[in-house]
Amino acid sequence: MKKLFLLLCMLGCIMCWANVPDSAYVFIYQKGNGLSAAWSGTGKTWSSLGGGYSLVSSDFGTWGAEKKMHNPCVAQLGDGSFVAVWSVNDRVNQFSVCTTPDFMKWQPQDYPYMDGVGQCLEPHVVAVGDKGCTVTFKNKNGEVYSTTAASDCFHFGAPSKVQANVASVPQTEAIVDGESYKGQVFKLPMNRIRPFINYCESKALRNQRHGELARDNATRFAGINHIDATVKVDLQDELAISDKLLGIFFEDINYSADGGLYAELVQNRDFEYSEADQKEWNALTNWEPTGQVEVRTDNPLHENNSHYVHAVAGASLSNNGFEGMVVKAGAKYDVSLYLRGGCVRVSLMDGDAVLASTTMKGGKDWKQAKSVFRPKASSESARIVVEAVTETDIDFVSFFPQDTFMGRKNGMRKDLAQALADLHPRFMRFPGGCVAHGNGLDNMYRWKQSIGPLYARKQDFNLWGYHQSRGIGYYEYFQFCEDLGMEPLPVLPAGVSCQNSSRGGDGQMGGLKFGEELDEYIQEVLDLIEWANGDPKTSKWAKMRAEAGHPKPFNLKMIGIGNEDLISHVFEERFIAINKAIREKYPEIEVCGTAGPFYEGSDYERGWEIVKQEDVALVDEHYYCSPGWYVWNHDYYDHYQRGTTRVYLGEYAAHGPGRPANIESALCEALHYCSIERNGDVVAMTSYAPLLAKEKHTQWNPDMIYFTNTEVHPTTTYWAQLMNGQNCGDRYLTTKISTTEQRTGVQQRLEASTVKNTKTGKTYLKIVNVSGIAATATLDIPGLEEKDARVVTLSGAWDDKTARPAEGTIHVANGAKIQLEPYSFKIIEI
Ligand code: AHR
Repeated sequence: MKKLFLLLCMLGCIMCWANVPDSAYVFIYQKGNGLSAAWSGTGKTWSSLGGGYSLVSSDFGTWGAEKKMHNPCVAQLGDGSFVAVWSVNDRVNQFSVCTTPDFMKWQPQDYPYMDGVGQCLEPHVVAVGDKGCTVTFKNKNGEVYSTTAASDCFHFGAPSKVQANVASVPQTEAIVDGESYKGQVFKLPMNRIRPFINYCESKALRNQRHGELARDNATRFAGINHIDATVKVDLQDELAISDKLLGIFFEDINYSADGGLYAELVQNRDFEYSEADQKEWNALTNWEPTGQVEVRTDNPLHENNSHYVHAVAGASLSNNGFEGMVVKAGAKYDVSLYLRGGCVRVSLMDGDAVLASTTMKGGKDWKQAKSVFRPKASSESARIVVEAVTETDIDFVSFFPQDTFMGRKNGMRKDLAQALADLHPRFMRFPGGCVAHGNGLDNMYRWKQSIGPLYARKQDFNLWGYHQSRGIGYYEYFQFCEDLGMEPLPVLPAGVSCQNSSRGGDGQMGGLKFGEELDEYIQEVLDLIEWANGDPKTSKWAKMRAEAGHPKPFNLKMIGIGNEDLISHVFEERFIAINKAIREKYPEIEVCGTAGPFYEGSDYERGWEIVKQEDVALVDEHYYCSPGWYVWNHDYYDHYQRGTTRVYLGEYAAHGPGRPANIESALCEALHYCSIERNGDVVAMTSYAPLLAKEKHTQWNPDMIYFTNTEVHPTTTYWAQLMNGQNCGDRYLTTKISTTEQRTGVQQRLEASTVKNTKTGKTYLKIVNVSGIAATATLDIPGLEEKDARVVTLSGAWDDKTARPAEGTIHVANGAKIQLEPYSFKIIEI
């Protein structure tokens, strides 16, 4: 019966396509900020393709205010492919240009600069030769310019003024899905349109599947009360996999550095907050002054730290840290200030109570004064008060617990660092994320500005809407890696800033200029390797590392270049130059490239092409996807090419509606992780993102660990990650979970993997059930030793946000039956 049905469907399809014209029409029209398509055999009635989904949308500028598409124009090139141009706004001297062979695969967008024209409005494009084009546009004064890229639709020549008007784009009016649109019509052979139609149809089905949520499972699987499954493991069939599959990605987002992991208790300790951080911020933000205080900049402590406070006798300044300092009675705290000219009284206060106090004196010039406080009582709302006894210049007021993680000076908050250590991470990527490539070229994170004496580090605004003190700088990052046994993976910008930049003129892919500017930057990248690994006797940079307290090399093995950038030509040229320089000078260092912010699409494809072409060791993939995406993409890495660039899944998370961190998201991630272990020969590393978030100060949700000043609140994702981190292997044993239940989507909600750790000799069987139905898994594992095994289970209702793993024992043997709770992740030490 089923076969007959399939046959009829196939016949139906053949018949649909049996009487079609040789050619038909494609209608390209603007919908929102993108281009959509419809097709027609007659050119009169139109069927939308993929429900009018966006073929390509504008990626210029920041989210919200920008990314708009104005006056798009499409032309067919000489070789039959297409080019689209549009105006990005009415201010800049750039337009957007991108090409596509077939309307399915699009090249990343480029935004060529047109010097001296003002603006590029209403661009119009025509083909030149096989692959080239000429674009005419006008500026606000109505002056018309023309520019040609004769061979590639990218390398445009200087614009020249022309006397003609900009030709108007031929516009056809068509009704698509009941709505009227204006757009352009292209006549194409049916054998070019048909793959496009198929592509759009399969995209629509995929989108529907990716939208599936656990909350509908009861309805979706109504009538199925139990699942019988078999877990087959071949204990002899081993695949060597990465031994550093699980790591962490630390970015200063959600106040995860200052006010978070960084244990400093004073906020704005050196009066460097400014309106660049937030409009209403200034040097005295978070300080409460009384009496006569003045912010000065003449003759500062350091040029990178240009603001200080001049206080007259009797004036005071009070700082409550990050909404109240948490101190413990009797514990030791380092107090330190830079003072010039006079003397101050420094007190730790809680309300009117003085918990500790001392007098400190400056020098004729700037001098650091130090003391140790042992508060008389504990408090969660303490503050530091600095009162001028005589007229004094004050800067860099620090109040730092001695009880940091591993007792490090200028170290990390103990409980948060311990939560990270408990994950058993094998590597750490830092300092971003978007923080790494920055909001505009001037905001790129430059590693050299983050080392050396704290007062001399160059601070900057944080593109997440606050300030980077750089108290945690490259030295602290590397040291933290060493303390936790993690391989450091610093990420340096590829000479371009974030494609979503809103500041700094050249923010949108302007890129450092070829020549001196880029050469200097490349040297800076090379210097990092020297700083981390070099010999202090021969290297100036390594000497700085030694002087900071680390004579031994940090043993850097990997370096990231770029963070999910738009893979424009501007990016590509700079990435290739930087990669080449590293490979030439330090062939032992593995470079990690980048493949954009999605699991498919133009940046992903072009990013991959580049790393393969340049033989780059690793590539950083990012995708934040719906739970349904993880359910339907177990095989994502099964089809990856072996023996080439390996994957670093540097940022991923399951994002359900409202973006909660709950059992559904944690189990979808765990499901994905099982399939990653199966592909641990092509996937070298993974890290969930983001890692840390201070409650009430989030710019992004969900995060792996939330915290307050006093507490750490791990999410269900954290527990699933911890289970994987603590039970990991370096060999994958072929594992297959199957069920006799045929209902579509059941099999996709089950996954299993087995890994062996050759160092400890332990083997772990992992089983995930995201179906919402209780299951029995029969073990088909010939040779499995019969025993009571350790088992760790994370389970709960799909929307449970507080579930934690429970540990117990379970009887295992070949043929044993394992009960799987409806939403569960189990690791059994077999
Ligand atoms: O993880 C949060 C952000 O997501 C990162 O900064 C960026 O790389 C990505 O867009």
